[in-house]
Amino acid sequence: MTLLLAINGAGENWSLGPWIERFAKRLPGRDIVGVSYAKAHPETVRYAAVWKPDKGFLATLPKLEVIFNLGAGVDALLKRDLPIEVPLLRLVDVGMGAKIAEYVCFALARITRGLDRFEPGTECDWSAARPRGRPPTVGVLGAGAIGGKVADAAAFFEYDVRTWTRTPRSGGGARNFFGMEQLDEFLAGTNMLVNALPLTAATENLLDRARLARLPAGAHLINVGRGAAIVDADLLALLDSGHLASATLDVFRTEPLPADSPYWRHPKVTVTPHLSGPTPLEPAAMQIAALLVQLEAGARAEGLPGYVDRARGY
Ligand code: GLV
Repeated sequence: MTLLLAINGAGENWSLGPWIERFAKRLPGRDIVGVSYAKAHPETVRYAAVWKPDKGFLATLPKLEVIFNLGAGVDALLKRDLPIEVPLLRLVDVGMGAKIAEYVCFALARITRGLDRFEPGTECDWSAARPRGRPPTVGVLGAGAIGGKVADAAAFFEYDVRTWTRTPRSGGGARNFFGMEQLDEFLAGTNMLVNALPLTAATENLLDRARLARLPAGAHLINVGRGAAIVDADLLALLDSGHLASATLDVFRTEPLPADSPYWRHPKVTVTPHLSGPTPLEPAAMQIAALLVQLEAGARAEGLPGYVDRARGY
């Protein structure tokens, strides 16, 4: 059996060597190969674990049975002319939920406690106001493996938490709103909006001017989902008008964020370079190797965790 690793991505996270090493350790006796081998011997490849592979490349592999996405979001992958008949599996959690929840809770604490007042090198004002009122309502868009962890973590810190999902969410302590018909009500009661939705046809540009304006005045936005969920010009207009107090953005419509983006220098915007939930090597390789063993034993991809419903988009 041959597993292809096709990885394009910036930074040490995406260098090929450590991934090959991890998969070779977990899948002894199988051939773990890179793109140049697959180009020379396309008929050998049965499985592919990929991150942003070259457009159209996977469609050149005639025996490809299953594609594994080395990340949680498949929006970029679905734009790469995949062979339509080959099932696609994405990573489920593998620790990313906890890391993203940590990022979000840090942003919440930074905002609600005014931690920016105490940057290193500044003299701290001992009489600084200490917020001690009722914590604001945190509204989490999406409550899957990632949004669910974010909601649970915020609830642990005793924020009043609500979630919004496409379909009703059972379980989880937070009050759940669902469907487009409940979105406005959800937003109207949310002081700190966290986007953890996958990017699909239904969520692209979801947060436009009208929806962001439903948030109460002085609300904050934290985006750990995908940049294209937000209409950037609308967000900037609402920050400039004072309706929104701040935006903490980890994801962007175009990444890396272009040098001329107004986000870079906006006084109410914090930009981080898509680091809230990097794919962790060991757990990701472990999850994919375990699924691959099940597939080799005859399991159907459709029944496995992380199976992507192409029509739904995640
Ligand atoms: C990162 O954004 C991922 O999709 O895993």
